[in-house]
Amino acid sequence: MVKYRRLGSTELHVSVIGIGTWQFGGEWGREYAQEEADAILDKGQELGINLMDTAECYGDHLSESLIGDYISRRKREDWIIATKFGHHFHERFTRTDAFDAKGVIAQLDASLRALKTDYIDLYQFHSGPDQAFDNDELWTALDKQIEAGKIRFLGTSIGSNDNLHQTDASARVNSRAIQVVYNRLDRMPEERVFPSCERQDLGVLARVPLASGYLSGKYKPGAVFGSTDVRHRHDAENTRLKLLEVERIQREEVPQGVEMASWALAWCLKHPAVTAVIPGCKDPEQVAANARAAGLVTGPHPQDVRL
Ligand SMILES: NC(=O)c1ccc[n+]([C@@H]2O[C@H](COP(=O)([O-])OP(=O)(O)OC[C@H]3O[C@@H](n4cnc5c(N)ncnc54)[C@H](OP(=O)(O)O)[C@@H]3O)[C@@H](O)[C@H]2O)c1
Repeated sequence: MVKYRRLGSTELHVSVIGIGTWQFGGEWGREYAQEEADAILDKGQELGINLMDTAECYGDHLSESLIGDYISRRKREDWIIATKFGHHFHERFTRTDAFDAKGVIAQLDASLRALKTDYIDLYQFHSGPDQAFDNDELWTALDKQIEAGKIRFLGTSIGSNDNLHQTDASARVNSRAIQVVYNRLDRMPEERVFPSCERQDLGVLARVPLASGYLSGKYKPGAVFGSTDVRHRHDAENTRLKLLEVERIQREEVPQGVEMASWALAWCLKHPAVTAVIPGCKDPEQVAANARAAGLVTGPHPQDVRL
């Protein structure tokens, strides 16, 4: 049974397991037909998942378009849609920054068209530099879009998972949630970012919670990925070391009979600052396995809600 938590001080009650949709943009070794995207999202809804994360540059609004087509045939209000702004997509693995206020408003309209909706629940600054973040004109323009009803809440997806500058400035720019890399192999946010989130009552979306799939336990050191899979671009030695560590964790920390992917997601969800995880899901079976993680999360959490 999926559980729900309030996303910081927003009125959004999100399922603790969300669905990341970077893979819909075609950078994870395969392209997605509409029926395949539908099957993933339908499985999520069947299991009580109500949160999805996408972005302007997962393909040129391609991931958003697959979601939009799906949403146009389902109930919009059943889903909390988080998307992002700040880049122009040119071709796979090539984007340029575009954080100027005028350009972002144009991107917002393009995202709304692709998503076939008239509002976005959480609109996130997408891993941009501090210089782009410290532009009051941008945040003023976005606040006007909230007043116009196009955005419900703003968030920040920090690029470095130790970016205290952008995290600490959240209250000032009216950003209510932080999206950050957090998983069993990378605990950096525990030191400075999570305490800042707790101080400001920000929601936290843990992204890359399976360490790009390495924490599923299905890859052994030396695993090779196809040239169209983003993991082909990871440093090979670094990946080998991560997979060795995953083997150790699997041996020493994962209880007998528990799927490692579900365990790794539940591990993230135990931290009191973390609201939800947003694992990328390639098929309905992965959605189902990830949803099972909610059953491994025991004990109260400061953001628990009952729907
Ligand atoms: N800058 C940013 O804001 C930013 C950056 C990165 C990601 N994100 C967001 O975070 C989301 C998640 O990150 P991510 O997709 O990079 O990494 P991830 O969630 O750690 O890993 C996803 C991959 O793990 C594998 N997997 C998923 N569930 C599994 C299961 N139950 N069992 C076995 N394998 C499983 C799948 O690949 P295989 O089956 O091929 O192994 C899947 O593509 C993205 O979709 C995106 O929404 C945001």
